[in-house]
Amino acid sequence: MIAAQNERRVALVTGGSRGIGLDIARRLAGEGFAVTVAARKEAGVAAAVAHIEDETGAPAFGVAADMADEGALGRLAAQHTDRFGRLDVLVLAAGLGAEEPVAAIRTKAYDLQMNVNLRAPVLLVRELLPLLRTTAAAHPERGSRVVALSSITGVAAEAGLSVYGATKAALLSFCETLSLEESGNGVNATAVAPGYVDTDMTSHLHGRIERESMLGVSDVSEMVLGLTRLSARAVVPSIVISRAGSQLWRA
Ligand SMILES: NC(=O)c1ccc[n+]([C@@H]2O[C@H](COP(=O)([O-])OP(=O)(O)OC[C@H]3O[C@@H](n4cnc5c(N)ncnc54)[C@H](OP(=O)(O)O)[C@@H]3O)[C@@H](O)[C@H]2O)c1
Repeated sequence: MIAAQNERRVALVTGGSRGIGLDIARRLAGEGFAVTVAARKEAGVAAAVAHIEDETGAPAFGVAADMADEGALGRLAAQHTDRFGRLDVLVLAAGLGAEEPVAAIRTKAYDLQMNVNLRAPVLLVRELLPLLRTTAAAHPERGSRVVALSSITGVAAEAGLSVYGATKAALLSFCETLSLEESGNGVNATAVAPGYVDTDMTSHLHGRIERESMLGVSDVSEMVLGLTRLSARAVVPSIVISRAGSQLWRA
């Protein structure tokens, strides 16, 4: 273990190898955070760690962990704790969506979305709560925070995305309950619910939706940075980020 009294603030970002998660990880590192980056594919994790260290000079630690695998979640929590002994911000960005109508939902796709988008965040928070609490107790002014990537589809449903939307709606509720139970211990949670963001996840939509009209990853990471600057007294249950245009509650 480096030390429980690590001087730097520390973040763990799941889905930190690409897209929104990578941008949040590199921006947090740019603010001086030490970061653990977790994602499924080892090569992506290694590339993200190298990129973050080169760009920011902050310590970055990579863990390849499949969020669908409960054992891997426990190992991720243990490895992060051993490496840094502190957790100020837990960002839950790993996620995926399958577009299919209710009439054609595949059980396998249902299970994968539930496991990665909902079960993994819940179990990882459970595993890391002791560390979030001890970090908050040692730094009571800031406390510690959980930020879960929900989606505007979890706020206003979209045809074809029933299971994805259900997992994202569940994260909104989960974050509220977490703040209710833990804000007295200095641990707050926020669900961030953006509309379409220009990442690999939305590249298949380029024919349907103009890329230039999508949110940028920095629109999301700026919000996360803002949350890390608040005091532990400020509880922000959710942040919805819509896109410019005539449909406020649409992805
Ligand atoms: N893009 C959007 O329009 C949008 C809008 C609202 C909300 N969101 C949410 O924001 C989050 C990030 O989205 P994104 O657009 O940045 O996605 P992305 O570019 O597709 O990146 C997904 C990230 O999640 C990781 N991941 C996926 N499945 C995993 C698994 N089984 N185990 C571990 N890691 C896994 C990926 O790692 P590997 O490459 O190793 O698989 C990658 O790092 C997601 O939760 C998404 O639902 C996205």
